[in-house]
Amino acid sequence: MPKLKIKKSKYLKETISHIDIKKHNAVSFVEDMSKMAFSARETARAAQIYDMMLKDKKCSVILCLAGSLFSAGLKKVVVDMIKNNMVDAIVSTGAIIVDQDFFEGLGFKHYKGTQYNIDDNELRELAIDRIYDTFIDEEQLKVCDETICKMADSMPKKPYSSREFIREMGKYLSKHAKNKDSVVLQAYKKGVPIFVPAFSDSSAGLGLALHQWKNPKSHIAIDSVKDFVELIKVKVKAGETGIFMIGGGVPKNFTQDVVIGAEIVGKPAPMHKYAVQVTVADVRDGALSSSTLKEASSWGKVETTYEQMVYSEATMAVPLIVSYAYHKKAWKNRKPKNYAKLLDKEK
Ligand SMILES: NC(=O)c1ccc[n+]([C@@H]2O[C@H](COP(=O)([O-])OP(=O)(O)OC[C@H]3O[C@@H](n4cnc5c(N)ncnc54)[C@H](O)[C@@H]3O)[C@@H](O)[C@H]2O)c1
Repeated sequence: MPKLKIKKSKYLKETISHIDIKKHNAVSFVEDMSKMAFSARETARAAQIYDMMLKDKKCSVILCLAGSLFSAGLKKVVVDMIKNNMVDAIVSTGAIIVDQDFFEGLGFKHYKGTQYNIDDNELRELAIDRIYDTFIDEEQLKVCDETICKMADSMPKKPYSSREFIREMGKYLSKHAKNKDSVVLQAYKKGVPIFVPAFSDSSAGLGLALHQWKNPKSHIAIDSVKDFVELIKVKVKAGETGIFMIGGGVPKNFTQDVVIGAEIVGKPAPMHKYAVQVTVADVRDGALSSSTLKEASSWGKVETTYEQMVYSEATMAVPLIVSYAYHKKAWKNRKPKNYAKLLDKEK
């Protein structure tokens, strides 16, 4: 075992650090990009549309997250968005919120690795997981799974929306966090609801499977329909919305569908007024992740006046877009919407 530890440290040396958009003012850079062509101009327009969402006093901003964004160094970007009232609700994959954010809140780190000349079998023997050029200590991920299980064991046995369970994770971190730069923790403090429609498809699922396995007769459950109903309530209350999507997947569709959801419950709400998506997905596959925002307008989900697709890997485009909006300072005139409070009150 000690030999194993030494070998593990051979790989887990240098940690991933999260980019600080407050330190880098991208305003003039992005303005100059808007005078160029191709991806530069598209990225600049996306930044301007996000800034418009923040300037529009009636607009609530919903951030959608998919991909391995926080293990790649984008966590602090979202922490700063929450702290500075630049986002009002979040819809995400479970991996980002649990395996990556809550995991770091517990004091663990992601490590700089490599995709070149690496023996994945040796990594397997050492219990090191690889995400492209990033390494993770699997033993630490197991602590994350087990923490979720212990939390579930201690909660009243009933169904919860993922949003309610993630609020409990925020409460847990408010007492036990070893790293306070956490989206789950800061969203809990600011009343920004976080929805993870496919919650079980992550470290949370492993922890909750263990919880249900140990307690087959009396256990908690995640009600993803309740998540949808809660997000519909947010949309109905908000009226006007802008969506900032990083990646695609379930969070993208769940958030776009909320317009149809409001209609079906008899509380019609306007289409999303602003929409930005940063993605590497290719439209030719006909899938939801890659579908353009113009296409979404045919389904009655997104207006086409202020929409922009950005075909870029997220770590390149997102810091530019958010730094631009942060340094334009429109967020200074925004107040926290605290939609979590609204949802908790309505129970
Ligand atoms: N990502 C992980 O490391 C991981 C780990 C455990 C579980 N999961 C689970 O797997 C499921 C799928 O999640 P996923 O993370 O693979 O996302 P996903 O497959 O849902 O991604 C959806 C879309 O986002 C785009 N995208 C992803 N990363 C991007 C980036 N960096 N830049 C631009 N576009 C990007 C992809 O092209 C894809 O079209 C989720 O339920 C998640 O919880 C993921």
